[in-house]
Amino acid sequence: MDPEARQPILSLRGISKYFGGVHALENVDFEVYPQEIVALVGDNGAGKSTLIKIVAGVYQPTKGEIYFMDRPVEIHSPHDAQNLGIETVYQELALIETRDVPANFFLGREPVRGRLGIFVDRKKMVEDTVRTLKDLGIVLPHLRTLVRYLSGGQRQALAIGRVMPWGGKVIIMDEPTAALGVRESRKVLDLILQLKEKGCSVIVVSHNMRHVFNVADRIVVLRGGKKVGDKKKNETTPDEIVKLIVGAEML
Ligand SMILES: Nc1ncnc2c1ncn2[C@@H]1O[C@H](COP(=O)(O)OP(=O)(O)O)[C@@H](O)[C@H]1O
Ligand SMILES: [Mg+2]
Repeated sequence: MDPEARQPILSLRGISKYFGGVHALENVDFEVYPQEIVALVGDNGAGKSTLIKIVAGVYQPTKGEIYFMDRPVEIHSPHDAQNLGIETVYQELALIETRDVPANFFLGREPVRGRLGIFVDRKKMVEDTVRTLKDLGIVLPHLRTLVRYLSGGQRQALAIGRVMPWGGKVIIMDEPTAALGVRESRKVLDLILQLKEKGCSVIVVSHNMRHVFNVADRIVVLRGGKKVGDKKKNETTPDEIVKLIVGAEML
């Protein structure tokens, strides 16, 4: 079914974001449909990170409205975003090198046990971690392995996998393959497709046209804080997207 036959799950309308005199975003409309992978592309400084940080609750828009499942919402914090079902995959930096896989899987959201709720439920953490990794086909060394011994791709898989147990409906990723080699990137792209299979929508920022055309259903182009393109993948070409990114005046 054409995703656009349905209501968007997330809809940004007329979003502007100013940092003092810098217009990072200017009157941007942006939709995400259920089970859709949207690639967000644009040159450095185009406003991509600002846009996803607004969705993630890190920044507040200067102007504009956000609708989630057709209801107007305000996302004042990452916690608000998570409550709506918007999960952000933070890059490796957000993992703790000196802790193992389950500890990183549940970082900051550890399940507790006992009457007072003061003991971390390690057994549940391990079980949930094993189940999610298996479910997503993520292969990692022993769970007790410290994150510092994982490869870049394994860390990224962990960073992506750990958003799954929270029932996120919209998953945000900023450059998930930027630091990875070809094979590791392939695995991350497969994971993105899996998230879609499992019912999630994904917003993914990427500079890599091959990756974009590999996974995206729709490609949104920002230039100088404005939306200059919004194309279904099967109705555009890498060449056209690159032209939109750099602008006609550059060619
Ligand atoms: N916290 C901030 N304070 C001031 N300016 C910012 C801030 N964040 C981003 N900007 C500016 O907003 C513009 C868009 O940045 P950004 O969203 O990071 O672009 P992209 O992710 O596409 O490279 C840039 O000119 C950048 O310098
Ligand atoms: Mg950025």
